Amino acid sequence: MDKIKTGIIGAGGISEFHIKGYLADERCELYAVCDINRARAESCAKKYNIPHVFTDYNEMLKLQELSAVSVCTWNNTHAPISVAALKCGKHVLCEKPMAMNSREAWGMLKAEKESGKLLMIGFVRRFGNDAAILLDFINNGYMGEIYYSKASYLRRNGCPGGWFSDKKRSGGGPLIDLGVHVIDLVRYLLGNPKALSVTGVAFDKLGDRPGIKNPKEYVTADAGNGFDVEDMAAAVIKFDNGAVLNVETSFSLNIKEDCGNIELFGTKSGAKLSPQLELFSEQNGYLVDVTPAMDTQLNFNGLFENEIRHYLDCITEGKKCISPAKDGVEIMRIIDSIYESARTGREVVIK
Ligand SMILES: NC(=O)c1ccc[n+]([C@@H]2O[C@H](COP(=O)([O-])OP(=O)(O)OC[C@H]3O[C@@H](n4cnc5c(N)ncnc54)[C@H](O)[C@@H]3O)[C@@H](O)[C@H]2O)c1
Repeated sequence: MDKIKTGIIGAGGISEFHIKGYLADERCELYAVCDINRARAESCAKKYNIPHVFTDYNEMLKLQELSAVSVCTWNNTHAPISVAALKCGKHVLCEKPMAMNSREAWGMLKAEKESGKLLMIGFVRRFGNDAAILLDFINNGYMGEIYYSKASYLRRNGCPGGWFSDKKRSGGGPLIDLGVHVIDLVRYLLGNPKALSVTGVAFDKLGDRPGIKNPKEYVTADAGNGFDVEDMAAAVIKFDNGAVLNVETSFSLNIKEDCGNIELFGTKSGAKLSPQLELFSEQNGYLVDVTPAMDTQLNFNGLFENEIRHYLDCITEGKKCISPAKDGVEIMRIIDSIYESARTGREVVIK
């Protein structure tokens, strides 16, 4: 079978994880790389032996033999690049967030339908073995009716800088960057209910913590000094199945340490994902805690390998995509509504 010739668009931090995922799957051949920063594209091509290098994605998309791409660029380019790639007949794996807003996301979904190709969104947390096992418990009725949930992704001093804190290129701060991961994961585990309404708040109290000397864990390749996004956001989201999600995200917050978790609360059992999947229920008249035995939790590389393998399964075997564009659109509708609620101070009903 011919290998799937694949292109990487955007050769920054996250592209490395996509590339390692492709390299781990022999159905794929890394064929082209594109970055507006020529030196970065060339260095990536050299490091991973990728034969074709571009600085303009439109030129790259002219390669007839190229079948699939990963879009690993700034958020403001996800929509135009994905639409162009679909129009050129390529399958697309687009990084989260799907787009800057739901209007762009709808346009991407339309382009996917017209192209007959796949547009998958990189909600990588869906590909953890902990999420898969928890979903299995949920689908088998172990948790009963899940009516309340909490999700957090909080960093004490964790704005990556550069485009991440430049609203024109990011669309927002921790809510659109980190919140999408946990909101999506909760919604996925709840069976993808539709959001009915949100009440949100967003703050810019600490900004990028100027003056703090402690080193950051992750700084983007093109870090700069600007900061015009929120540094903390929180929301309550009501879904059409009656469930409620309480979510909090931050780049900067006076909290003891960075943390990320999701917790679900059902009539028969509760569950939390971090640091390890655990379920809390009742048995023989006692409160019991259940820790499913599983292979060690996947690290970031493992999540991406699973995500890329699934993308290639969808392309080669027509497998049903578990991270489809329509779910990306729904998440963008929720994100738009949280920002609107934070701006207006009112609950936003999602039509
Ligand atoms: N799934 C995850 O857990 C995860 C983690 C980090 C980042 N991301 C997402 O991945 C994307 C990239 O983030 P990153 O951390 O790699 O950023 P980055 O700044 O390290 O890399 C982005 C690269 O895209 C290039 N680029 C920008 N516009 C381009 C264009 N029009 N054509 C070609 N190249 C272009 C930049 O020059 C840069 O090299 C973002 O959407 C981010 O939200 C996802």
